[in-house]
Amino acid sequence: MNIASISDLEKIAENKLSKHIFGYYSYGAQDMISTKDNSAAFDRIKIYPRVLRDVSNIDTKVNVFGKTLDSPIFIAATALQKLAHSDGEVGAARAAKRRNVVYSLSTFSTGSIEQVAESLNPNLWFQVSFFKDKNITLSLINRAEKAGFQAIIVTVDMPYSGRRLPDIREPLTVPDHISFANFVSETDDKPSDGWIGHHVVHGVESNLSWDSIKWIKANTKLPVLAKGILSPEDAKLAVEAKIDGIIVSNHGGRQLDSVPATIDALPGVADAVQNRIPVFFDGGVRRGTDVFKAIAYGATAVFVGRPNLFGLAYNGEKGVDLVLDILNEEFKLSMALAGCSSVKQINRSYVRKMPTYTS
Ligand code: FNR
Repeated sequence: MNIASISDLEKIAENKLSKHIFGYYSYGAQDMISTKDNSAAFDRIKIYPRVLRDVSNIDTKVNVFGKTLDSPIFIAATALQKLAHSDGEVGAARAAKRRNVVYSLSTFSTGSIEQVAESLNPNLWFQVSFFKDKNITLSLINRAEKAGFQAIIVTVDMPYSGRRLPDIREPLTVPDHISFANFVSETDDKPSDGWIGHHVVHGVESNLSWDSIKWIKANTKLPVLAKGILSPEDAKLAVEAKIDGIIVSNHGGRQLDSVPATIDALPGVADAVQNRIPVFFDGGVRRGTDVFKAIAYGATAVFVGRPNLFGLAYNGEKGVDLVLDILNEEFKLSMALAGCSSVKQINRSYVRKMPTYTS
């Protein structure tokens, strides 16, 4: 049987991966209200198509920071990709390169900054976390810049890790051959109480402010984006802090549970920003119509997190090829059937939020 959707791939990934690893990739914080709503909220939004337009050529290209990308579907930073497949981050970055889209690399990756740079993807962005030891943060940014990464994504919604219940019940353990590759020199000396991963994550700083963002900006020539903005007030502060872009994100529902679905938060952020800087989006994107809706509400491009992990689990790098192909095909068809031949034409007039009905 052919694989027709990201949902098909998710089922395959669930069968292939251990319960523990699939659970780590899938779960959200607490009761997963926000994780579930990220997807459900898309279903409440309807597309009003326009007809009798020339849709014989559909152009999905977008411009981001002066570069033209072939599609607005990018890959989000997610930790520990080699748990899905040995191709890991490098394989996913190569798949993104073939489609001329952005691959973003997590600080907590299992392929290092330098290894992923060898994918020769010219659109690599690095997701940096703040550490209590500022030198660690600084060194990561310097390494990414030196390796040719094109932007720095600062994750701002994780002063602490969210309360993810399966991980509390049974903490994730990682096989010996897999490590946080950006910290290998520090892992030479493994702590006696277990895996270095927990030590790295616990080194994350919780005393952050917009000055921290300014400090990052002062320490890199690359564009800096804040990932994890939901409130219009924070979006305004981000613009004031002269940040280069925002990613509307709730971390796939893995941080504070009960925050809004990101597609519900997006219009407010886009209104606050008023096109002064690009607004990106992630959370629950599983179909081309989801991409269409996010762009209609003001996103320049979207990132997919878990779909990339499902693709890796299915067939490594080739599985990520398939993820991007499915999403791009679906997005192109959504554009055509909605009457838009270029991404610029997609705007709010095409979407409306409908009331939910219960039977
Ligand atoms: C994440 N995410 C994430 N974000 C980040 O800034 N740094 C990280 O290391 C990680 N790690 C991570 C691991 C896993 C397993 C998941 C599922 C997510 C959040 C990620 O970048 C993104 O915000 C969400 O995944 C988007 O939601 P979807 O596409 O997964 O629904």
